[in-house]
Amino acid sequence: MGLRTDSIHAHEYFDRTTGAFIPPIYQIAMFEQPGWTRTTDRGTDLKYSREENPTVRALEKLLARLELAEDALCFSSGMATVATVYFSLLKRGDVVVIPMELYGTSLQLALELRKYGVEVLLSWPETDKIIDIVNRKVKLVFIETMTNPMLRVIDVPELAKVCRDLGVVLVVDNTFVTPVLYQPMRDHVDMVIHSMTKYIAGHNDVVAGVLAGSKKRVIEVWDWRRKLGNILAPFEAYLVLRGVKTLGIRMKTHCENAQAIAEFLRDHPKVKEVYYPGLSDDRYHSIAKRVFKNGYGGVVSFKVRGGKEEVLKILRELSIIKAAPSLGGPESLISYPIISAAKVIPDDIREKLGITEELLRLSVGLEDVDDLIEDLDNALKKI
Ligand SMILES: Cc1ncc(COP(=O)(O)O)c(C=O)c1O
Repeated sequence: MGLRTDSIHAHEYFDRTTGAFIPPIYQIAMFEQPGWTRTTDRGTDLKYSREENPTVRALEKLLARLELAEDALCFSSGMATVATVYFSLLKRGDVVVIPMELYGTSLQLALELRKYGVEVLLSWPETDKIIDIVNRKVKLVFIETMTNPMLRVIDVPELAKVCRDLGVVLVVDNTFVTPVLYQPMRDHVDMVIHSMTKYIAGHNDVVAGVLAGSKKRVIEVWDWRRKLGNILAPFEAYLVLRGVKTLGIRMKTHCENAQAIAEFLRDHPKVKEVYYPGLSDDRYHSIAKRVFKNGYGGVVSFKVRGGKEEVLKILRELSIIKAAPSLGGPESLISYPIISAAKVIPDDIREKLGITEELLRLSVGLEDVDDLIEDLDNALKKI
């Protein structure tokens, strides 16, 4: 099946009694256990919604299909997903490699692992630099397919091959790219995670996370989800099931709008630099062209001519585009990384990465692109 078909039908729910073909919200905490226990199709007990819930399970089946995985697990947020993966995989003495450009809270959480005796090595966020420090002693490499906010594209096929040969677990945060553009399981990574708060749920109205992987990996993490109690709530799962149906068509528009905006910004006299892998002269265009299909994503970062004062003026002058963190929804959002997701990166590293006070990150939404361009042009003209 194609991804658009799967994103609508792969939950597999059908109620023969009523003919209903959309999974309902199973708003219930516990299930009948009359001396025996019902089981889910993954063999776990269906007795309590902290462990399993049928609405969540329907979403998990669908997400596993989208990421070409055997199974999936939903969590109350992207961060809950990352934390539970760490709990399930790591113990004192293990070595973890992460790129130093990573979603700020993910970076903070990884650094906290040091407190528990896990060695955390920071790599420059480029494929060859990550590969340079991966060896047999490393337990886990955790990366984002495309970094935030500089939009560096990691060559996941290349890195996955190295990790596989060395027996190192590779977990890929595919939030920015989505399975519409790239499915890391094609290259046999161990686990794929998403903040579904972004493109997968897609409507800026729900916080959620997912992990996809082999049955064996998923059941190991499932046991930690049960213990930590961070499963997604049924209403949230319903919202994601509703939102994900349009993932394919939304991503097409996000990518088309982002490409047009990146080209507009590249030629704008008030813009110093644009970062978007869809631009033919972008440093990561050739990797992205080889690895991604269907486009280059919906986020564009750019540096304006000026400093903090000019940036704050732009944020005030924009009218359609909202100054807010996050990404992946219908509303275009612009964020100022040095006060937002990248705030927690130490100053010297942040500068080296290029995350300076002139940098803005735009999550291009689904509005008419001409309106967005006019909004940006008006604001840029004011500086
Ligand atoms: C790439 C990436 N991963 C993970 C997260 C964390 O997800 P959540 O906010 O759903 O906890 C975010 C949030 O912005 C993100 O951008």
